[in-house]
Amino acid sequence: MKSLVVYSSRTGNTQKVARAIYDALPEPKEIFSVKEAPDPSAYDFLALGFWVDKGTVNAGSARYMETVTEKKIGLFGTLGAYPDSDHAKQCLKKARALVQGNDILWTFLCQGKVDPGLIKMMETKMKNDPHHSMTPERKARLEEAAKHPDEKDLADARALFAQLAKTAAGKVSA
Ligand SMILES: Cc1cc2nc3c(=O)[nH]c(=O)nc-3n(C[C@H](O)[C@H](O)[C@H](O)COP(=O)(O)O)c2cc1C
Repeated sequence: MKSLVVYSSRTGNTQKVARAIYDALPEPKEIFSVKEAPDPSAYDFLALGFWVDKGTVNAGSARYMETVTEKKIGLFGTLGAYPDSDHAKQCLKKARALVQGNDILWTFLCQGKVDPGLIKMMETKMKNDPHHSMTPERKARLEEAAKHPDEKDLADARALFAQLAKTAAGKVSA
């Protein structure tokens, strides 16, 4: 069974998770950012990674995900919001829709520190925007996000994708 990890990452969070997942997969395996990613048709199991951009899958990952059909897939992503939030669930729903027609084995989300430039904008230009202004709740969430992905996130991603690869291999040989 051949595995492929493909991810997008603007500030490095999703890349960290992607590399952890890659480490946990059995050979043969390859890893690429979406910009260099090969045609997915030659692979059996795909770990597809994205970061959340304005409430949805970042555009580069979304485009790649739409090219994938009839594969065993694990989805992973990072975002500023809490992974168990309604916002995260909505993002995951959109990610799943992009790869419909595939066998989605499981999904993984964790927080990822938010670009300090964006935080600065929330504190200045967006300070009167109710969706982005710096409330105490948002500040706490961003402070928590700043600690992620942490070692536990990476260990969780490794453990999950090692298991998914076994499940996928079982299905490929069945
Ligand atoms: C332009 C921009 C838009 C973002 N939009 C959202 C969003 O809608 N929801 C969210 O939870 N996080 C959002 N984030 C936070 C990122 O999803 C998060 O920091 C992610 O870990 C970035 O991944 P990367 O380091 O791999 O680029 C946004 C970040 C940026 C820079």
